[in-house]
Amino acid sequence: MIKSDPQFNQFNKLHHFLSIDGLDKTTLTHILDTAEGFTSVNDKAIKNVPLLRGKTVANLFFENSTRTRTAFELAAKRLSADVLTIDLVSSSTKKGESLLDTLRVLEALQSDMFVVRHSDSGAADFIARHVAPTINIINGGDGQHAHPTQAMLDMFTIRRCKGDFSKLCVVIIGDIRHSRVARSGIAALVTLGTAEVRVVGPQTLMPADVESLGVTVYRDIDKALKDADVVMGLRLQSERMSSATIPSTSEFYQAYGLTPERMRLAKPDAIVMHPGPTNRGVEIAASVADGKQSVILQQVTYGIAVRMAVMSIIMGHGEEVREAEMNKE
Ligand code: CP
Repeated sequence: MIKSDPQFNQFNKLHHFLSIDGLDKTTLTHILDTAEGFTSVNDKAIKNVPLLRGKTVANLFFENSTRTRTAFELAAKRLSADVLTIDLVSSSTKKGESLLDTLRVLEALQSDMFVVRHSDSGAADFIARHVAPTINIINGGDGQHAHPTQAMLDMFTIRRCKGDFSKLCVVIIGDIRHSRVARSGIAALVTLGTAEVRVVGPQTLMPADVESLGVTVYRDIDKALKDADVVMGLRLQSERMSSATIPSTSEFYQAYGLTPERMRLAKPDAIVMHPGPTNRGVEIAASVADGKQSVILQQVTYGIAVRMAVMSIIMGHGEEVREAEMNKE
């Protein structure tokens, strides 16, 4: 555990959830184990538990989202919290109000937790450093930096479908360079002791420091897929590309598209994952996205239990901070 990590409070407990970096295997495993308990809640007729009753969770989405926003909203409601979902894509920040002014307004609304999605890398970290110490922050995706709850729901899906990480070969295909999902997913896979993490894609879509992340880099997708247990596609993040990085989407599909023929190179029981939104015929064939090996919709469902786990864990530790603040007064 890194003491200067802004994710940890003065008691060295996880207080914010901003990034997988700095979290150890015990912490990640605790989140996965807690999420296991919440899947049974989600399977019941009455899906609510009173863990966050009386708390207010504000979903601050400065960038568009479907899966993350709705899963967080459902997770908070199933924990019995009051939920504010504020569409900041078309809010007063567009009228010139600074991010800090907007935060002060939301603090005044007595929120206990902010879930933040922002197009700028580092936005969730910045907010965590500027809000009242009693407020917990969860990063719902910041620029091309991190998407830690997506990484945890991906790990949960892999553990449920394939078991022990130390026996698995995981392949991540495509736009690694601009993908916060890939960055957080690789960090989680490495921390959880995955036997081999391979990345494959054109050089223009690889981060400069990619090997230092603990992965094996491939250019040839057929070689990368050989005997894989888990195959993860990624969306081309065209909104984060400042210039053309591939000749065309059809050429990208020819070279790196996840087709049924290519999937035959992986193990017969390999699973296919994708964080969404999927672009059929660009990074994945429709028949693969909808095929028997696809767990893409399971990922979405597991996202609720995993977010319930993260919220309840950090909010639990939030109580310690609130008590310490009250004792100061
Ligand atoms: N996976 C993901 O972050 O999807 P959304 O952009 O729809 O939230």
